[in-house]
Amino acid sequence: MQFPLNLRNRNVKDWVEKMVALCKPDFVYWCDGSEEEYATICQALVKSGTFIPLNPEKRPNSFLARSDPSDVARVEDRTFICSKNKVDAGPTNNWMDPKEMKTRLRHLFDGCMRGRTMYVIPFSMGPIGSPMSHIGIEITDSGYVAVNMKIMTRMGSAVLDVLGENGEFVPCLHSVGMPLEPGQADVPWPCNKEEKYIVHFPEERSIWSYGSGYGGNALLGKKCFSLRIATVIARDQGWLAEHMLILGVESPEHEKTYVAAAFPSACGKTNFAMLIPPAEFEGWKITTIGDDIAWIRPAKDGQVKAINPEMGFFGVAPGTSEKSNPNAMASIRANTIFTNTALTPDGDVWWEGMTDEPPEGLIDWRGNPWDPASGKPASHPNARFTAPLTQCPSLDSEWNSPDGVPIKAFIFGGRRSTVYPLVYQSFNWAYGVYLAATLGSETTAAAAGEVGKVRRDPFAMLPFCGYNMAAYFNYWLRFGRNIRNPPRIFSVNWFRKDANGKFLWPGFSQNIRVLKWIVDRANNHGKAVESPIGWMPRYEDMCWDGLDYSKEKFSELMAVDRQLWMNEILSHDELFMKLYDRLPKEMIFIKELMLSSLWRSPEHWEFLQCDFEPTED
Ligand code: OXD
Ligand code: MN
Repeated sequence: MQFPLNLRNRNVKDWVEKMVALCKPDFVYWCDGSEEEYATICQALVKSGTFIPLNPEKRPNSFLARSDPSDVARVEDRTFICSKNKVDAGPTNNWMDPKEMKTRLRHLFDGCMRGRTMYVIPFSMGPIGSPMSHIGIEITDSGYVAVNMKIMTRMGSAVLDVLGENGEFVPCLHSVGMPLEPGQADVPWPCNKEEKYIVHFPEERSIWSYGSGYGGNALLGKKCFSLRIATVIARDQGWLAEHMLILGVESPEHEKTYVAAAFPSACGKTNFAMLIPPAEFEGWKITTIGDDIAWIRPAKDGQVKAINPEMGFFGVAPGTSEKSNPNAMASIRANTIFTNTALTPDGDVWWEGMTDEPPEGLIDWRGNPWDPASGKPASHPNARFTAPLTQCPSLDSEWNSPDGVPIKAFIFGGRRSTVYPLVYQSFNWAYGVYLAATLGSETTAAAAGEVGKVRRDPFAMLPFCGYNMAAYFNYWLRFGRNIRNPPRIFSVNWFRKDANGKFLWPGFSQNIRVLKWIVDRANNHGKAVESPIGWMPRYEDMCWDGLDYSKEKFSELMAVDRQLWMNEILSHDELFMKLYDRLPKEMIFIKELMLSSLWRSPEHWEFLQCDFEPTED
């Protein structure tokens, strides 16, 4: 085999040779990461019908792909953590014996790339050469994956230089699982409709993905590597791999504070990462480091530092608009790959929520003329854009810093129409771990299951933790004990509703008011009072400049209802029972402590009606 001249790593050569022998592709192509290569693969994808080039006047150098209708999202029920022992994967992950799984996979991968090109993609998660970064090599038979990886990661030849002779890498094997017989015509979106496996081997730190060409199933640097495998590496090396956005908050005095925030899907993570403060919040600026994943390390100075391992956004398109997220709209103006959006007659893309009125003559995500009266969306609810980070107008100046940025606060938020106040701060690190461990979010129409039911999603990591979730809670407790200056931990909820089902909080750009209180607290100059569940801002502790929001409404937004909270806390037992054998004792004790302090609190804890003077901090 012809290897790149700068490839000196024997382990990479051996692995690729073995995979070529197993998968039997017609050609092998090593990606160098150049712009010419990107253009060549995109042109090949246009020729094969996978890509539709968009109107260069409207959306320069951009393409639309339509997936097979059976291959539109991550497949959590086909995702496995194959640790040697089942208990190490834990009760929240699918597990199979690694030997049995390998046998099954070897059989599936045998000859799976016949008639296709094998792309070998060296990539770095994190700035190339940074001590916080890790290298992967993805082998795939999908050109769509190769060009998406070029946007989402630091990809190409320079990675091989850094890898050197002995550098470590995570082998990531991917196939769409649809070999071509001689003379068999290809389809625009090859995949395997019968068999899909997204498999992680945490002990050998490798990934095998078969049968899907979509998103997190196929772009293996993202969820598979940067979360599932990285959580295991992080646990062993003393850092954190988290499902968190990273943003900077800059005050009018140019004080910059970075925070990292975890939200389950469908809670507006990308919008929050790119927030533009309202005009009346003069002098305040939000800068973006990442919208999905954070790798976080204790630094020598007692702080923690974070990088975004990714290089692009793989964002959900529906709901993104000039109103909800102008920075995202600017990020996707050019050089973007769209998947499963609708197509306009003038060769641009459209999705639900982009404009109030849909343009006429749309072609839907399946390639058919769209009938607005059909009741079906023109764009798939999980339609995506893949766009370079560097196109984001709010990109932080430190986005590529090899050392990362110091994180002062962790924020956890779910979609809760009742119970949870707009914001509160946990009493301490262990309470914060409890708050994150019991994070829940109401299911929306886009997600499977009963609408409005609370789904527990600890740390927003339920589908992404590569080992036992209870051991992960314990690891977080240990992590906090070992840092001199641990970030403060906060809960937020943008989605609380009043008795008539109306949102109590305007959300979006107004969330800057909550962020301001959070960074004030994290910098030790914000005021708060003690409530039964944590530290809370009073009306006068938040900035209301330019927003007509009454004290009464704020009080409703922040109220802690004793009975509802006791029910909420009791409902945490469902998760705790599942994880019982490895659950840290702290979770049980904090639960009891919260129950007893709620028991002693007023029935409906509000600042305005409080029958005791809250302690001020
Ligand atoms: C994502 C997800 O796509 O969390 O980022 O599902
Ligand atoms: Mn995500």
